[in-house]
Amino acid sequence: MSEKIPAEPPVLIPENEIRRRVGELARQVSSDYAAAKELHLIGVLRGCFIFLADLSRLLTVPRQIDFMAIAAYGKNSAPSGAVRLIMDLRTNIAGKHVLIVEDIVDTGNTLEYLMSTLLPRKPATLKTCVLLRKRARLEKDVKIDYLGFDIPDRWVVGYGLDCADGHRALPYIGVVKTD
Ligand code: PRP
Repeated sequence: MSEKIPAEPPVLIPENEIRRRVGELARQVSSDYAAAKELHLIGVLRGCFIFLADLSRLLTVPRQIDFMAIAAYGKNSAPSGAVRLIMDLRTNIAGKHVLIVEDIVDTGNTLEYLMSTLLPRKPATLKTCVLLRKRARLEKDVKIDYLGFDIPDRWVVGYGLDCADGHRALPYIGVVKTD
């Protein structure tokens, strides 16, 4: 990244389009889980925080919210694509209907790690809800049950996503130029 990122990067997905799509996802999830006693939302920190806040408030089914934090290892410190657990759940998910909520799937390494970590805990169901997917970057065959948008292979910020910890509070998805 050579150039300075502008305070208001060019828009990829405007605020109203995000709001419309998150509403659709919430209606779909609410309908699919209508018969479930309770839905356990697991937000993957930190990027998920705005998407999860908006989605969870639009759901019409009883829900609980918990968080995990995952990070990629630094370059040269582990095999490429390796991720590590920074913070685990507080709740026991055995027998629960669990929905992982992610802001973005890039390579798919994080989501694959989450599935392999959570499945042995024997949830009743385990599904995924992802706002953005970069198809061109996928390395792992991860299943996304609810997807907001497929996006091009560009560095995006806003609505929870960052660049060097900046721009997370931008209300839209913007594109950061790279060289
Ligand atoms: C982002 C995003 C996902 C992950 C996806 O997290 O929130 O968790 O990358 O990438 P992958 O599909 O290649 O594994 P990031 O490491 O940027 O941390 P953050 O959420 O704290 O910003």
